Amino acid sequence: MSYPDVRPRRLRRTPAMRRLVEETRVAPSELILPMFVKEGLAEPRPIGTMPGVVQHSRDSLRKAVVEAVQAGVGGIMLFGVPVSKDPAGSGGIDPNGILNVAIRDVVSEIGDATVVMSDLCLDEFTSHGHCGLLAPDGTVDNDATLAAYAEMAVAQAAAGAGVVGPSGMMDGQVGVVRRALDAAGYADVAILAYAVKYASAFYGPFREAVESSLVGDRRTYQQDPPNLREALREVALDVAEGADMVMVKPALPYLDVISAVREAVDVPVAAYQISGEYAMVEAAAANGWLNRDTAILETLTSIRRAGAQMILTYWAVEAARLLRARY
Ligand code: PBG
Repeated sequence: MSYPDVRPRRLRRTPAMRRLVEETRVAPSELILPMFVKEGLAEPRPIGTMPGVVQHSRDSLRKAVVEAVQAGVGGIMLFGVPVSKDPAGSGGIDPNGILNVAIRDVVSEIGDATVVMSDLCLDEFTSHGHCGLLAPDGTVDNDATLAAYAEMAVAQAAAGAGVVGPSGMMDGQVGVVRRALDAAGYADVAILAYAVKYASAFYGPFREAVESSLVGDRRTYQQDPPNLREALREVALDVAEGADMVMVKPALPYLDVISAVREAVDVPVAAYQISGEYAMVEAAAANGWLNRDTAILETLTSIRRAGAQMILTYWAVEAARLLRARY
């Protein structure tokens, strides 16, 4: 008898064999493209911290969405950047605010050829940059914020969003949004809850994308990175309050959390590969330090393998093309 008698390498010998035994695949339809649209822009504007990503004009957004549909992505997640911000974030609620206008533009352009989602949070619209309204003492007022989210949800549904994504980490936000949508006649609009959202350093580049004026941090509402059990509690609450899908965010530094959430609930689980995860790979690739395309697919596959059924990623269109070429 020769030794070793068990040889796992047999199944890795050729590309055909490796493809045959591949356990995890990412489909373009599982990718969701986050997109930024800025009020008043004539031309799209590059975001320095996220090479390859832009703030869209209303016009360029329409075109980019058509391109995303053609690439076969499963959905888009819209973020609005208003020209002027105020303490109440009123641009987020205004039916003529940039995000609501953009939702209408996109829906009139592509109908339901892909799932149109909107970020439901105040931070892009507030002058102080927090995800909620501030109490006189400067802390974020949970319950006052809930009332604003309810109005925002109805405005987004009226504009045509198929899915709203409450992302501010206020207690009770999913329940209040569900009730507001139902009461306004939007029982069919789904909720993708940013259920597990950590106070992460990897949001850095996003702050430039939405021109956030935040001073300080979000640690009184976003979760502490060391905590996993707390994430499961957040997810259970959101599902009980009516979340149709739940999200974990960021993705790559929290694969264990994705995996645990997947085990804990029976609703679809999404993960958000955030701006800093994108920027890390782009920066390293720009320096020639790693192979960009391989790294992109490896990160997406890992997030999928951990248990996320859907992935929000700034590479959605490009990755969809890479995946089509591969399978
Ligand atoms: C909140 C929101 C943020 C992101 C998505 N929704 C910012 C934050 O909570 O600090 C970050 C996305 C990214 O970094 O790519 N509206």
